[in-house]
Amino acid sequence: MLQESVELLVAAQPHGGATYVDATFGDGGHAHVILDRVRACRLVALDRDPQAVARASALSKEYAGRLVAIHANFADLATVLDGLGIELVAGVIFDLGLSSRQLSAWGRGFSFAVDQPLDMRFDPTRGPSAAELLATSSEEQIAAIIDRYGDERFARRIARRIVDRRRLAPLRSTADLVAAIRGAVVMPPHRRGRIHFATRTFMALRMAVNDEERSLELGLDAACRRTRPGGRVAAISFHSGEDRIVKREFRNWERDGRAAVLTKKAIQPSRGEVAANPRSRSGRLRAVTIKEG
Ligand SMILES: C[S@@+](CC[C@H](N)C(=O)[O-])C[C@H]1O[C@@H](n2cnc3c(N)ncnc32)[C@H](O)[C@@H]1O
Repeated sequence: MLQESVELLVAAQPHGGATYVDATFGDGGHAHVILDRVRACRLVALDRDPQAVARASALSKEYAGRLVAIHANFADLATVLDGLGIELVAGVIFDLGLSSRQLSAWGRGFSFAVDQPLDMRFDPTRGPSAAELLATSSEEQIAAIIDRYGDERFARRIARRIVDRRRLAPLRSTADLVAAIRGAVVMPPHRRGRIHFATRTFMALRMAVNDEERSLELGLDAACRRTRPGGRVAAISFHSGEDRIVKREFRNWERDGRAAVLTKKAIQPSRGEVAANPRSRSGRLRAVTIKEG
């Protein structure tokens, strides 16, 4: 979906120089393809993760003057563009969630595969970590997070276990959280081995810690307002809640005459892509063309 999403983004290139926004630089996969595909373009690359921004800054040397790396939440896209003196761009792409590098990096707290501090912030310089969130939220709040973002049927039992455990000692590590979840989740035999019992809770906490749905709503709104007529907005999501938001926003824009939806049905990864990268299996790509407003 990397190539496909970039093709959708750049299909309607304006004459002269175009500026695109990669709202989620990550490891730079999309950035490389966009910069190589549209030789004369400029790319503004954002990421909430300072480590990703450092990689983008290093890459900017390779693309002399064509890549601008900014440490920002894409929710603040309009402010970022104002700061750069850019009114309208030719397209914005969002590749949501977390990168494989973040998932496997020790110390970020995204994975339960190893014991590490329970952080989970995309931007470790800001806001409460997952450990702090679990220490300060009520049992009801924790259950609501796990239910809403994780769609976890054992959300209430997990929240109860977390609160019981934190009475004895704060949950500081991923192993502390896994231990709390272990006793609460009953995996029916047919689901065993398909998905780890901690997967849904970890994903839900990460989404809450980073306020991901709210950022997405704000980011999409800014992208719609700051993309020139004929330009494109594309989004790849890996979570059904996020895909619902993208689909809903794109439809609203179409209904209001602000955009035309290019993907009546979301584009899904090919079998080959899923075989090469199993994490891509839940990916959904949607795109719109912005209309004259
Ligand atoms: C799936 S990765 C992107 C991978 C990238 N497209 C590539 O090809 O390497 C998602 C990235 O988005 C960043 N991110 C998540 N939410 C963000 C937000 N609200 N604002 C800016 N960056 C965000 C994460 O830190 C992560 O680096």
